[in-house]
Order: sequence, then structure tokens, then C-alpha cells
Amino acid sequence: MRNLCIVECFLLCSSLFAVLVSSKYHGNPANDLVDIINKNRTAAKLSRLSDNAGLGCMALQFINFCKGNCTSNNNVNCNPSSDNFTEVFAPDCGVELPTFDTITGQIVACQPGYLEPTEAFSRALVPDKKTLSLLRNKSHTEVGVGMVGVHKGPFFWCVLFSNGKTNSTFVLENHGLGIKQKRGCFSGSSVECSRGHSNGAFWINVSFTLFFLIIYSVFSYRSVEILF
Ligand SMILES: *[C@@H]1O[C@H](CO)[C@@H](O)[C@H](O)[C@H]1NC(C)=O
Ligand SMILES: *[C@@H]1O[C@H](CO)[C@@H](O)[C@H](O)[C@H]1NC(C)=O
Ligand SMILES: *[C@@H]1O[C@H](CO)[C@@H](O)[C@H](O)[C@H]1NC(C)=O
Ligand SMILES: *[C@@H]1O[C@H](CO)[C@@H](O)[C@H](O)[C@H]1NC(C)=O
Ligand SMILES: *[C@@H]1O[C@H](CO)[C@@H](O)[C@H](O)[C@H]1NC(C)=O
Repeated sequence: MRNLCIVECFLLCSSLFAVLVSSKYHGNPANDLVDIINKNRTAAKLSRLSDNAGLGCMALQFINFCKGNCTSNNNVNCNPSSDNFTEVFAPDCGVELPTFDTITGQIVACQPGYLEPTEAFSRALVPDKKTLSLLRNKSHTEVGVGMVGVHKGPFFWCVLFSNGKTNSTFVLENHGLGIKQKRGCFSGSSVECSRGHSNGAFWINVSFTLFFLIIYSVFSYRSVEILF
């Protein structure tokens, strides 16, 4: 009876702990993607790209602009003009216009749902030789990743590359503190990131806790029965 109690307590406490931890954890999968991109480049003896928040924020604006256009074979059918970059995406992020530089490449992808960063990289963003050679272009120096999901709809990713000078291009006004980001994630930022969806891990843990609570009550009920 006492051992059973200890086991129950342990299960209950550990699942409650998991809920607390997960609700406090604010990872940023867009930064994870930048790491994966850099690992892939350095494995091919290419330079690491610096994680530019201005580029990341514009990548997020890019897919917000294209959110309606995921085709049935998971292509993003959308081509914003260069004016859209300087007149819409950059100002929406508070990128200081004199620091706007050349964008040397873009990869956009969509999938029916959210994918973890490693999956998103290999299945959505870099699935073939064409995108791999774009990623491994020697002229890039900076990168930014944006990602956002449509409620009950597809999930979008965008990677932007630039050959601009590190730390002095795509500079965000007020260090990006003025960005009002409601949905989605972008790399290089300190802005809290919602993964583009409600926090899935949180609800998984809530369900686990409920599951353990049910098991717990069933067990305690049985023990009571045995006792009396
Ligand atoms: C989305 O696709 C439709 C149909 O091809 C097109 O008319 C529309 O301009 C596209 N939207 C964007 C933002 O490119
Ligand atoms: C994007 O650029 C196109 C062509 O330059 C323009 O027609 C369109 O209005 C722009 N979209 C936005 C949201 O500014
Ligand atoms: C690398 O990117 C630059 C700038 O976009 C482009 O001019 C060049 O052709 C690319 N190189 C390769 C090998 O694709
Ligand atoms: C780099 O990415 C490509 C395309 O997804 C993949 O085939 C390759 O194995 C990756 N290389 C490394 C070292 O991760
Ligand atoms: C850019 O800034 C970071 C952090 O402030 C610094 O660690 C890095 O050395 C800088 N890179 C260049 C090329 O100036």
C-alpha cells in the first residue's frame, strides 16, 4: 500500500512538473533551423551564416503575405515583388531602410502541418539538389528564417539569404523591440515565439497529467476496495 502511494506520487509529481516546465519553455524552432542550415554548410566546408533578425522578420512577413497559396503538391505559389520587400516587409519589421541589402536567395515551403526543425529542413525546405545548391551558395553571409501556420491549415517556412555585411545590414530599429508579432516565429530574435500554433507540447502534457490522474483515481479506488 505504501509503495503504491510512492509510485502514484512519483507519477503525479513528474507529470505536473512536465506541465510546468513545458509551459515555461519558449524555444524558437526558427533558430534551430538556422543551426541545421549552418551545420549542413560547415559539413561542406562552407562558412557559417550569421543569424540576422531583420532577415528573419522579413522571412516571416514574406510567408504571411503568401499564406493563402499552398498548392496541393506543397508548393508556395507566390512571388512578392522587390517593392513588396522594401515597401511592406521591411517597414513592417522596422528594418532601417538604408541598411537594406541584397537578398541572394530565398527558399519557401509549405506542408499540410507543422514539422519539427530537422524534418522541416529535409522534407520541406531542402528536399532536392536545387535547394541544396541554393543553401550552399558561397556568396551568402547571412540568413533569416520565418515560420507560421494557418489555423487548421498548412504550415509555411521561409529562408532568406543575403551577402550583406554582418551586423550592419537589415538592422532593426530599437533592436527589434517594437515588433508586434502575433503569430509565428523568426530567427535571431528575442521576441517570444508561439511556433505559429497554440503550444502543442503544453496540451500533450495536460493530457498526460489527466491520464495519470485517472489511473491514480482508479488505483486509489481499488486499494480502498481491497482494504475494506
Ligand atoms: C495566390 O494564388 C492566386 C492564384 O494563383 C493568385 O491570384 C494570387 O495573386 C496569389 N497570392 C499571392 C499573395 O501571390
Ligand atoms: C506587392 O507588389 C505588387 C507589384 O509591385 C503590388 O501590385 C502589390 O500591391 C504589392 N502588395 C502589397 C501588399 O503592397
Ligand atoms: C550564388 O548566388 C548568387 C547571388 O544570388 C548568384 O549570382 C550565383 O549564380 C549563385 N551561384 C551558384 C553556384 O548558384
Ligand atoms: C545537407 O542537406 C541535404 C539535403 O537535405 C542532405 O541530403 C545532407 O545529408 C545534409 N548534409 C549533412 C552533413 O547534414
Ligand atoms: C556581430 O555581432 C556579434 C554580437 O554582437 C559578434 O559576436 C560578432 O563578432 C559580430 N560579427 C562581425 C562580423 O562583426
